Amino acid sequence: MKQALENIKASALNALESCQDVKELEALRVKYLGKKGDLTAILKQMGGLSADERPLIGQIANNVRTAIENAITAQSDKIKVFMLEKSLQNEQIDVTLPGKSQPVGKLHPLNIVLNEVKDIFLGMGFDIAEGPEVEFDYYNFEALNLPPDHPARDTQDTFYITENILLRTQTSPVQVRVMEKQKPPIRIICPGRVFRSDAVDATHSPLFHQIEGLVVDKGITMADLKGTLELLMKRLYGDEAKIRLRPHHFPFTEPSAEVDVMCFNCHGSGCKVCKGEGYIELLGAGMVHPKVLSNCGIDPEVYSGFAFGLGLERIVMRRYGITDMRLLFENDLRFLNQF
Ligand code: PHE
Repeated sequence: MKQALENIKASALNALESCQDVKELEALRVKYLGKKGDLTAILKQMGGLSADERPLIGQIANNVRTAIENAITAQSDKIKVFMLEKSLQNEQIDVTLPGKSQPVGKLHPLNIVLNEVKDIFLGMGFDIAEGPEVEFDYYNFEALNLPPDHPARDTQDTFYITENILLRTQTSPVQVRVMEKQKPPIRIICPGRVFRSDAVDATHSPLFHQIEGLVVDKGITMADLKGTLELLMKRLYGDEAKIRLRPHHFPFTEPSAEVDVMCFNCHGSGCKVCKGEGYIELLGAGMVHPKVLSNCGIDPEVYSGFAFGLGLERIVMRRYGITDMRLLFENDLRFLNQF
């Protein structure tokens, strides 16, 4: 019987070695190890053995089973690698072929307008900066002159990861990150996602986009801020675009303003689109607060600067006459294919 077991082992290993196919492998497993297989057939004869012989043969039979099982696993791995290599041969990329061109006019409306805004600012000598969406409380609030108990934090409730780490509520923390690293002259814009814990409706979304702007140098004044924004709006909306600055308060700018653009539907006389105002609010802005400058190691006695934060969705909605912000996030192709 011992010899019969050794023969099965030799025959199985031999057959497995030349097996190149998963189905065939399974057939071999059944042939040797299955309930009606060769090994079982031999074991059935064990009843005729003496009590002394039985444990020894049992041991050998177990070893043969293990050896065959291991050989099946090893061969199965070999077959898998072989098949993978074969399929990869068919997937080789010819890097000399021309790339697929971007289909014309198939950008998301947010990207169409963002690209325009970037081009306008690059043309004025601005650089494009980036910052993290998961931000420290320090950058999002404290360094911007909003200490932990400041009431203005209430209007920017957000999603907290820990007590000190949150999803940024504005792109303004990038101002601080840039000023920490780079000394004036500074001229950057920073587009990016921001988050607030707002319920979704036609004009609110817990996720939206802002474009921050920051200029710091010697002798920068509010006139530079107004001129820059006026040029931006004329480029975006045409030469007849007019802006208006209203006094406002932001803890990190002084003085601060909200900036409105004249309603292009009624040209200032008041209509449904602008809710009778004649103007539409587009952004917040102001002169960088001296405290923020010194928080970042810039001497407010020597340098001054302006900053602004534009809401990208608002600009896009105005541009295309979109009245429900949700359309920008739902990825409905019937909507997106119109751009
Ligand atoms: N971060 C402000 C907001 O989200 C906008 C702003 C940016 C105001 C820069 C002033 C200067 O409301």
